Amino acid sequence: MTDPVAPGARLLITGGAGFIGSELVRQLMARRDGTHVTVLDSLTYAGNRANLAGVEGEPEQAGRFRFVQGDIADAEVVRSLVPQSDAVINVAAETHVDRSILDPEAFLRTGVIGVHVLLDAVRASTSATRAVRFLQVSTDEVYGDIPEGRRSVETDPLAPRSPYAAAKAASELLVRSYVTTFGLDAVITRGSNTYGPHQHPEKLIPLFVTNALAGAPLPMYGDGMQVRDWLHVSDHAAGIDAVLRRGLPGEAYNIAGGTELPNREVIARILASTGRDWSLVRSVPDRPGHDRRYAMDGSKAKGLGWAPVVPFDAGLAETVAWYRDNAAWVEAAKGGEWADYYGRQYSARLAAGETASETVGGPASGGAAAATGDG
Ligand code: NAD
Ligand code: DAU
Repeated sequence: MTDPVAPGARLLITGGAGFIGSELVRQLMARRDGTHVTVLDSLTYAGNRANLAGVEGEPEQAGRFRFVQGDIADAEVVRSLVPQSDAVINVAAETHVDRSILDPEAFLRTGVIGVHVLLDAVRASTSATRAVRFLQVSTDEVYGDIPEGRRSVETDPLAPRSPYAAAKAASELLVRSYVTTFGLDAVITRGSNTYGPHQHPEKLIPLFVTNALAGAPLPMYGDGMQVRDWLHVSDHAAGIDAVLRRGLPGEAYNIAGGTELPNREVIARILASTGRDWSLVRSVPDRPGHDRRYAMDGSKAKGLGWAPVVPFDAGLAETVAWYRDNAAWVEAAKGGEWADYYGRQYSARLAAGETASETVGGPASGGAAAATGDG
């Protein structure tokens, strides 16, 4: 039986054209240990083949790499790929909470039907002599809103509060059921808020960085005191890799960034690194059901020898530089359906919003009244 991650292993990475998936592919390929990677990605608005250009453009890596455009909910394509794989890493998902509020259905199709199709194919390829390891990439959002003073541990109950988080929790429950019922060799990672190059501009950090660079308004939800735990994408991918190699079957592992910050603090640092001030920030109507705080205890993953290494300020500076230097990538990501999405998500909010003050409840820092549109 082949060790799922021994040198020369054949890995199927779904969602590998996205933000975290493409970083995982880059890390695995750069190791040059003969690992073969197949990416299965349907290239939704968030998937971008250009994220894999470094791998596909380098002859040695390209020889160990294959890209298949397809949907994880398509049993035919999945059943053709899983039998050729020693491990399946499911990174594919619909990933934006705001979109799950506007339109939840795609989240369920990928998170429930898609995960079921993958698990069924893994089960069919598993026998007494061959185990196919399955890794489900999940999120700290499955724990729900975490009160001040505590951090989630892996045995805590799942309490998702958005359609996105509910779909992710549903995926996890399906995985667990296949472990219990069919003895599948599966592991789960729960990552915290991730940032870095190649992230679609819909999320807080890339949206605010690209808007700030363009001089466009920054729509801060509510009072901006929501807390997130920030994790650099290279640390997140390394955490997934550690769990893939050393995680115990059936176990979940928190991949915690260890940098818990209120959104206001993140915004202040983005303004400082882009040379802007608070006159660009609009306080806009809050996200419905907005979780106030996520916080995880990361000790269990540290027991596998993993720890985050990128300090937030260094990671943010690198991220700002990347978005500044990759205008064509940003333009492509803000093309297609972006204007329609941006209008649905922000037009009314920006019209109802007001210039934010630097401190909660303090006087506005000046600048124009609420503007609409995007940069
Ligand atoms: P992303 O939106 O950048 O990428 C998702 C990728 O999945 C895209 O390439 C998309 O085309 C692909 N995809 C979507 N539906 C698919 C389908 N049905 N079949 C095949 N491919 C499909 O997302 P990301 O931020 O890189 O997140 C990756 C994973 O990590 C997700 O499972 C997400 O829930 C999880 N996660 C993300 C974060 C974060 O902060 N970004 C934190 C914790 C966990
Ligand atoms: O915690 C892990 C999760 O982090 C992942 O599972 C998700 O895939 C990922 O999208 C992210 O979810 P969040 O909802 O926390 O990320 P987002 O970047 O959308 O928002 C971060 C915080 O910033 C949140 O409190 C909402 C706020 N925000 C976000 C946007 C897009 C704003 O104030 N204004 C905005 O325009």
